[in-house]
Amino acid sequence: MDINIDFAKSNIKKKGFLDIDIDVNLDLFAEIERLKKEKNAIILAHYYQEPDIQDVADFIGDSLGLAQKAEKTEADIIVFAGVHFMAETAKILNPHKKVLLPDLKAGCSLADSAPAALFRQFKEKHPGHVVISYINCTADIKSLSDIICTSSNAEKIIESLPKDQKIIFAPDKNLGAYLKKKTGRDMVLWNGACIVHEIFSVEKITRLKIRHPKAKVIAHPECEEPVLRLADYIGSTTSLLKYTMNDDGQEYIVATETGILHQMQKESPYKTFIPAPPDNMCACNDCPYMKLNTLEKLYLCMQYEAPEIIMDKNILEAARKPIERMLAISKQYGL
Ligand code: 13P
Ligand code: SF4
Repeated sequence: MDINIDFAKSNIKKKGFLDIDIDVNLDLFAEIERLKKEKNAIILAHYYQEPDIQDVADFIGDSLGLAQKAEKTEADIIVFAGVHFMAETAKILNPHKKVLLPDLKAGCSLADSAPAALFRQFKEKHPGHVVISYINCTADIKSLSDIICTSSNAEKIIESLPKDQKIIFAPDKNLGAYLKKKTGRDMVLWNGACIVHEIFSVEKITRLKIRHPKAKVIAHPECEEPVLRLADYIGSTTSLLKYTMNDDGQEYIVATETGILHQMQKESPYKTFIPAPPDNMCACNDCPYMKLNTLEKLYLCMQYEAPEIIMDKNILEAARKPIERMLAISKQYGL
């Protein structure tokens, strides 16, 4: 390292990332490729990352795909281009590996909506319930859960439990309500939500459909029920991408974070993808947390191996069990 350690630490503490000037003539794509080889590092990226990051990643996926890839990787360093709970999950599955996140402040409104102390009280009020938590939660919440799920496997995870089993589902009330309807289970829901998926405007999507009568509406189950009611297809990010690849339609209104459009357009260059409009004038269907990561921060974090995910050993151990249970059930169902 050719930077002062104390400077780096205070820089990360204050800003969440290493704020160091980069030579503008540097080819960051080539540099990142070089660092991957030199350090035996793998870049795992979520579909909501900016296109440059997706293009330099070794694997792009949804939350389940990323956890499965993290579980299997033989790389020494995992560079997680996503948000904090995703990098934490990779660390939980690889406690002896170095896991880096380009910007430590890349959080998640859903994860923030479930503080551990309040959740513990909530759990106590519902004895005898199995706790299924959506992977978009902190490691503390995972450690208080019985099974983790993602939007790809939630239905199967719920169905793997006996029909009379009482269930708490946390923290996403929209995904929870969707799953209650799909599985017929009367689950107790935690009142959390994703700021990005709650922003879509039913009125504007309806108007867009009138202007594009052949367009299909595809939506992520984190969206609110009125938006889901407009959808021709509902699924996780990977599932939405696959749908657009295999479907014979030509036009899609996409109700999820806009980052996914990059892969949709790459896979189906002749199809048209329209981001579902938010209910105001800003680009609020961009996740402000996901978009904190940039190619520059990715390069710096690989170069200096910081910021790194460091976790309390007890939480890490306790959070691993419900994640492993999720991975085992997913395997059983061929997911
Ligand atoms: P999936 O990629 O698992 O569909 O989740 C979407 C999401 O909101 C991730 O933060
Ligand atoms: Fe969290 Fe929503 Fe951003 Fe996903 S899109 S990281 S759920 S705030």
